[in-house]
Amino acid sequence: MIRIPKSEYARRRKALMEQLEPNSIAILPAAPTYIRNRDVEHVYRQDSDFQYLSGFPEPEAVLVLIPGREHGEYILFCRERDPERELWDGLRAGQDGAIRDFGADDAFPIGDIDEILPGLIEGRERVYYAIGTNPEFDHHLMEWINTIRSKARQGAQPPNEYVALDHLLHDMRLYKSAAEIKVMRYAAEVSAAAHVRAMQASRAGLFEYHLEAELEYEFRKGGAKMPAYGSIVAAGRNACILHYRENDAALREGDLVLIDAGCEIDCYAGDITRTFPVSGRFSPEQRAIYEIVLEANMEAFKHIGPGKHWNEAHEATVRVITSGLVKLGLLKGDVEALIEAGAYKAFYMHRAGHWLGMDVHDVGDYKVGGEWRVLEVGMAMTVEPGIYIAPDNTDVPKKWRGIGIRVEDDVVVTRKGCEILTGGVPKTVEEIEALMAAARTDAA
Ligand code: GLY
Ligand code: MN
Ligand code: MN
Repeated sequence: MIRIPKSEYARRRKALMEQLEPNSIAILPAAPTYIRNRDVEHVYRQDSDFQYLSGFPEPEAVLVLIPGREHGEYILFCRERDPERELWDGLRAGQDGAIRDFGADDAFPIGDIDEILPGLIEGRERVYYAIGTNPEFDHHLMEWINTIRSKARQGAQPPNEYVALDHLLHDMRLYKSAAEIKVMRYAAEVSAAAHVRAMQASRAGLFEYHLEAELEYEFRKGGAKMPAYGSIVAAGRNACILHYRENDAALREGDLVLIDAGCEIDCYAGDITRTFPVSGRFSPEQRAIYEIVLEANMEAFKHIGPGKHWNEAHEATVRVITSGLVKLGLLKGDVEALIEAGAYKAFYMHRAGHWLGMDVHDVGDYKVGGEWRVLEVGMAMTVEPGIYIAPDNTDVPKKWRGIGIRVEDDVVVTRKGCEILTGGVPKTVEEIEALMAAARTDAA
């Protein structure tokens, strides 16, 4: 199984600590567990920032970094070993495991944090933490600070500055290392195999959830614990609902089906969309719209590379989509004027992509100093233009209505341009029709 190596977590902690001002402490909580209903919890997913610095997979943990601390810079508070609880809920690293397996210099039981952490904060000038993102944790931190304040007469000194940690950390996360790209390549490969399997399985008379089941089969077979986000399997006009989640409608002869799904490997996301005909053959109208979206997708890659700015790929997709819609008569007028007026937004209402990484909509600024960010090697993003013709759009002839198409790939910026991670799933009309025809022949 491809995973982030332990050495990389140590490298990340060191890189973060090098950016902290002198005499600082950084504090990050693990993600909480959430109750789904009564005794059932949602599947646990570690907080991405916490995971990024630790690889520690348990809840009820707090990570502390104190650059220059003599007795160790990396401290982990975590659950104690507990044979009774472990019998029911699974193994815990405990404090020995935190040191032995996760590289902590020091580890303490999470139940002792109120006694120990104020002493670690005391005397530090600055506290780095993600202010305001976890109200319960904000509250705890204020209590720890007040514990220090209450000892002011004994000479205890609370910190003077509270600094947002997320900004530093999120900028680090934007630049993917070789190890991260390896994991993302694998997440993309498994996600691509899942899309191929769904295309092969598609038949009129099945339901959207049948295809979702095919996706999940491949995800799990590839070692993914879960999808990176709720899979969208949207047949026919459902594809015009951008975040469609029901996945329970029938697949009908003559309709398209849009699948937006990707798996998560070691907390890194794949994010792929393909749109294909339920029965394996595009109608002339479906094909006409599809070719525009595909051209926009392919054109965008040419605008991704070092030195190009974030918005260039989006602007390229807007040009291709607007001129394509004009050629089909779905938009009328001068292409430049239509772009200026944003006329395409009736059909293409989202952006061409987003950063991709541990979070499917990953962290990192899109603008720096008010200007679109200039792309650099290691930044990863999606390319996902689409055209959605609302079923009730009476401005267009009926034959176009209810068609929703998106084509989404994942890329990482390289020295020469970009590497497409999701090439394992076909996307030209000919490739898709051939793949689906072969699957039918095999089944016959
Ligand atoms: N699946 C969410 C997105 O494509 O942005
Ligand atoms: Mn997507
Ligand atoms: Mn996406």
